[in-house]
Amino acid sequence: MICDNITVSKDGHLLFAGQDTVELAEKYGTPVYLMDEDKIREKCRAYKAAFSKYFDERAIPLYASKANSFKRLYEIMAEEGMGIDVVSSGEIYTAVKAGFDLSKAYFHSNNKTDSDIAFGMDHGVGYFVADNVEEVKAVEKEAARRGIRQKMLLRLSPGIDPHTFEAVATGRVDSKFGTAIETGQAEEIVEFTLEQPHIILKGFHCHVGSQIFDEDVFSRAADIMLEFIAFCKARFGYMADELDLGGGFGVRYVESDPEPDIDMMVGKLAAAVRSACARLDIEVPEIHMEPGRSIVADAGMVLYTAGTVKKIPGYKNYVSIDGGMPDSPRYALYGSSYTCYAANKMNEPCTLKASIVGRCCESGDIIQEDVMLPKSVGRYDTIAVCTTGAYHYAMASRYNKLPIPATVMLRGGDESYVAVKGETLEDFVRNDV
Ligand code: LLP
Repeated sequence: MICDNITVSKDGHLLFAGQDTVELAEKYGTPVYLMDEDKIREKCRAYKAAFSKYFDERAIPLYASKANSFKRLYEIMAEEGMGIDVVSSGEIYTAVKAGFDLSKAYFHSNNKTDSDIAFGMDHGVGYFVADNVEEVKAVEKEAARRGIRQKMLLRLSPGIDPHTFEAVATGRVDSKFGTAIETGQAEEIVEFTLEQPHIILKGFHCHVGSQIFDEDVFSRAADIMLEFIAFCKARFGYMADELDLGGGFGVRYVESDPEPDIDMMVGKLAAAVRSACARLDIEVPEIHMEPGRSIVADAGMVLYTAGTVKKIPGYKNYVSIDGGMPDSPRYALYGSSYTCYAANKMNEPCTLKASIVGRCCESGDIIQEDVMLPKSVGRYDTIAVCTTGAYHYAMASRYNKLPIPATVMLRGGDESYVAVKGETLEDFVRNDV
């Protein structure tokens, strides 16, 4: 199995976090997002332990809440002592409603509006991560109006292509994100920010991409960023306190993906950071990372109920499910691979090759192509899609007026509870006037 929280019972039912997915589908209805609370906590602890083992107590991981954001998740992050990365007033509001201490929040995005900036300051967001000089100006203006000094990081682009797919590669010079080191604009933005009376420049940030398995990518990014820190020390007499190396650590969607090892990745990164700091003769800054996917992805599973099975002899087979691209958009957007099962038929041999497709009026509404399923798969079977804890609920839409499914948390091997209610038909007209 692709993750240790997925097993099979004697009667051939798929178990997730030790619980029978067929029974969960019956109890909560489908489609439904399941989240394994214990796995989320295990991942937070793995990051925290690795950070304190290889760096020091100041180095806390920040959960990138764009991966999945709802109140209960922020409560868990607070309980686990994590910081968070937020990207919008919506994420800030959700965290506030969960009682999360926003002094441990880092506010990202490449285009914070004036109202986002004011909203963030209203709620005491600890750090603004400015993407570009316009944001520095806008934050300075609002901080001056309030008579405060706002802590800030500058997002720089180190010019690294992590060799993952285009849509999630963000650290390259021609990216919409960050200010490029290579073009000299990073130097200019540092000089400008240091002159602002209402901004405390705490350091720098970069994020090179997503679904990265090669730890070397993080080490190369750290190297470039630390060289820039040393450059700023020599050029402006400014030593950055903090270096935030972003998120992007990969997760296992299919058997052929490597098994990620958080301890090893952080250990290698820490060794690279130390040796670069020694070479450059600078102190090791406070290091942060912002894992999103690698905290929540394999804590998630979506359950569907199969409907129509269409066999087109000599061509293709389709298994339609009762959800689709609105709740699981990653195949339609990126062609992403997933592991899928007929959850109530785990003891049957998988001899039918079929595409699992959604119920939207769009041929690109595909969950996964060429999945091997039992020959008997059909109406009322439970279809499980694994590793869906990141960028599913967070990216869900209401296309074709399909309601966004509930999120059900699983814990302790036998407990389950609703963390986010499923939308109802009434929700579709709530804002119509
Ligand atoms: N920090 C920053 C500044 C980011 O832009 C991101 C992701 C992260 C952290 C977290 O990255 P993670 O550890 O989750 O890879 N929707 C796409 C992923 C977009 C990621 C954008 N930024 C997907 O479904 O694959």
